[in-house]
Amino acid sequence: MTDSHDDGQRAGGRKTGIDRRPEPALALVVVPVATRRARGGEEDGAARRSPEAQRAEAVGLAAAIDLVIAGSTIVNLTTLRPATLLGKGKVEEIAALVKAEAAELVFVDHALTPVQQRNLEKAWSAKVLDRTGLILEIFGRRARTKEGTLQVEHAHLTYQKSRLVRSWTHLERQRGGFGFLGGPGETQIEADRRVIQERLTKIERELEQVTRTRRLHRSARRKVPYPIVALVGYTNAGKSTLFNRLTRADVLAKDLLFATLDPTLRVVRLPHKTEILLSDTVGFISDLPTMLVAAFRATLEEVLEAEIILHVRDMAHEDAEAQGADVETILGELGIDTEKAGRVIEVWNKTDLLGAEARMQLANRAARRSDGERPILVSAETGEGVDGLLDAIEARITAGRPEYDVRIGAEDGAGRHWLHEHSDVLGSKTDARGRTTYRVRIDPAHSEALLGRYPDIKRASLGKAAE
Ligand code: GTP
Repeated sequence: MTDSHDDGQRAGGRKTGIDRRPEPALALVVVPVATRRARGGEEDGAARRSPEAQRAEAVGLAAAIDLVIAGSTIVNLTTLRPATLLGKGKVEEIAALVKAEAAELVFVDHALTPVQQRNLEKAWSAKVLDRTGLILEIFGRRARTKEGTLQVEHAHLTYQKSRLVRSWTHLERQRGGFGFLGGPGETQIEADRRVIQERLTKIERELEQVTRTRRLHRSARRKVPYPIVALVGYTNAGKSTLFNRLTRADVLAKDLLFATLDPTLRVVRLPHKTEILLSDTVGFISDLPTMLVAAFRATLEEVLEAEIILHVRDMAHEDAEAQGADVETILGELGIDTEKAGRVIEVWNKTDLLGAEARMQLANRAARRSDGERPILVSAETGEGVDGLLDAIEARITAGRPEYDVRIGAEDGAGRHWLHEHSDVLGSKTDARGRTTYRVRIDPAHSEALLGRYPDIKRASLGKAAE
């Protein structure tokens, strides 16, 4: 059972522009679905999901590193074969597919032992990537801080080292060689191990250094005068689509500093002129291999520092609840209190895929939540609801920001212009002498400049807004 992905996927994989590699590889996606018995009766995250959902997730993951997906196939496993994971017949069937599609790479959405990987590579004459390997690739592309890059490399090397040891114990005795990291023979493997260990030690030292200087970095980042709004969500929830929609609109997106350096950070100007730094993050995934947790955390630095976290959820997905719970668990593990009112806004996405009745039910569910935690229904695809989302973000950010009454003489055109450019003008009143008093709300980045221009202005007293 193979699905072709001749539509958008073939045409160019992912759209966020993360990729820096010129030539995407043609790939097949194999999704082994083990029965509970095959897994030894153990319940895991994947077991709660339908095979189709697992297939969609696997294809999404592969597309995230710009593989061009030639097809995907679900393989039911009643036993896990030590040599090839899959049964002989399946291995042959897939070999034929690889050949027919001229695929260069096969992504197997499962953990593979080095022996299994090697055997499958031989059987299929293609490079084989397992789930951990692929996730590492994604993290590698998304890590942008020094710490993130080091953590990902550390995870990668630890992974390689564990495979090297295992390949040696499993294979060395039988075949006297294994080409995982160069030439065969015990000496070569020991040399490889030494090289990896040396690099790991060096990275650990660098990481210590980075941790020591992190406080400095933090204060430098705080100088960026924008509150950070971070998008999080289960993989395929629509984060990048929403990110693009929020930043693509010309009026809203500004190509500043970060935009040129990093495609996943953008300055966005909200309807009332509040500027935020919007940050896209790597998608959350169930069953994250433990050795990747530190690396994953490092890719989420903005999330930890974010003033507002947008939790994007695919509400048309059959596993929406399980996915939402997974994300909350991970946020909790990162030390983010999802219960704390105001910090997390749930964005209920893909409403365009729902029928009128389901949409109504969802809207009612959202309406029942209290003010501070009401989810916003949107369709990142059509743009529906996005204005409401922008307003909600802005309302949360500006809540508690100081308001001032600024009186400007009729002759002070420059002052008037400055106010409209840099503050949110909530109202104004003009007296008989042509002087106008503006009630403005100002973000902290501009308050010093405002007080510099008008040293005598007063904080507005609550409830006395100018009209
Ligand atoms: P990862 O990077 O894997 O974490 O995914 P993501 O959360 O960034 O999801 P992405 O934006 O890549 O969207 C996944 C798929 O859902 C794409 O095919 C989008 O076109 C589609 N999609 C996103 N938002 C919507 C929506 O509101 N409606 C519909 N119909 N499709 C959507």
